[in-house]
Amino acid sequence: MSYKSIVLAALVAGSVCLPLCAQTTLKEAFHDSFRIGAAIHQAVFTGGDAGGATLVQAQFDTISPENDLKWERVHPTPQGFNFDPADRYVEFGEKNHMFIVGHCLVWHNQVPRWVFEDDKGQPVTREELLRRMHDHIAAVVGRYRGRIRGWDVVNEALNEDGTLRRSEWQRIIGDDYIAKAFEYAHEADPKAELYYNEYSLENEAKRKGGVELIRKLLAQGIPVTAVGLQGHYRMDWPGVEDVDASIAAFQALGVKVNITELDVDVLPRVRRDQSADVSARAEGGANSNPYTAGLPAPQQQALADRYAALFGVFLKHRDAITRVTFWGVTDRTSWLNDFPARGRTNYPLLFDREGKPKPAFDAVVAAARASR
Ligand code: G3I
Repeated sequence: MSYKSIVLAALVAGSVCLPLCAQTTLKEAFHDSFRIGAAIHQAVFTGGDAGGATLVQAQFDTISPENDLKWERVHPTPQGFNFDPADRYVEFGEKNHMFIVGHCLVWHNQVPRWVFEDDKGQPVTREELLRRMHDHIAAVVGRYRGRIRGWDVVNEALNEDGTLRRSEWQRIIGDDYIAKAFEYAHEADPKAELYYNEYSLENEAKRKGGVELIRKLLAQGIPVTAVGLQGHYRMDWPGVEDVDASIAAFQALGVKVNITELDVDVLPRVRRDQSADVSARAEGGANSNPYTAGLPAPQQQALADRYAALFGVFLKHRDAITRVTFWGVTDRTSWLNDFPARGRTNYPLLFDREGKPKPAFDAVVAAARASR
């Protein structure tokens, strides 16, 4: 079935089975297609957000840690690891029989300064940075060996034009920092799935760079299991054809594809080049926060249609896709309320601020049913 016919059938089905669909859970609906997950923040697994925990337990069969395994959280000082939140995250996943994802080992953001500097504040050598990267990966991946089943090993290494980002990792170590990170992760847990995770690969230039990067890594024998398309989307970007083409391009290399950080920003753009780059913040203008009193029905329906179309593509590629993970659980706690401008009211997920399923939830469940 083509994704267009899946979408059409989903839209028709959605209009006749809303009460029934609302009773189905996401993990039941997608059981035969791919795992379905959410990124969770600390309160979900430490008891502060009991409603969020109940929702996650009921709806999802895989989890990702929104922040608690990032370098600055887990390894803030040279000798100091802080594993307590991550331990509780992993316990939560095990208790609920979920596929547990680790995020993320090597990234240009959320890494403390000390990682790149010696005790005089000068840049460390290539050998020293490789040693630090190795020891970090060995400690973190090693601690959860056999429990965290897949790792975002390298996150966001590409520029928008497809060239390699001049991060401190790249500047100090050289282009092979990516291969080294995968080697170290594989050494620390040979059975773990290892991912390259990136945003905006749906844009052609960046996709070409991504395909070339993964092709080279595979040719060197580097164990890349899957490419993560983050999926930080907007109502008008990317086109479903570009999502389709991106999944197909990576599948053709022989790797799996995960949708790793899915959400749909419904608010007006506040920057022309808006992407998921967390360093690129902006001020919201006068009309940048139009839905503080709730998302009006036409926009709610448009979001449901957008999600139906996206899931139509994911379902068409179910052979390539092993996991679709949302970046958050409810609209209340989404990062998009504070990005790129702080303090807005966004509606990017399937559950509203009270944790109730939205029309977009019914639309994706209907898409799953229509594809059977
Ligand atoms: O927890 C502190 C809080 O104590 C403090 O008062 C507050 C003041 O700003 O900051 C809080 O930490 C924030 C944290 O989110 C938790 O809310 C950090 O400042 C903020 O930088 C951090 O943002 C996270 C961002 O990555 C940067 O790490 C977002 O939650 C998280 O959703 C976002 O996730 C990234 C993925 O890792 C990679 N791909 C893009 C994606 C979205 O940017």
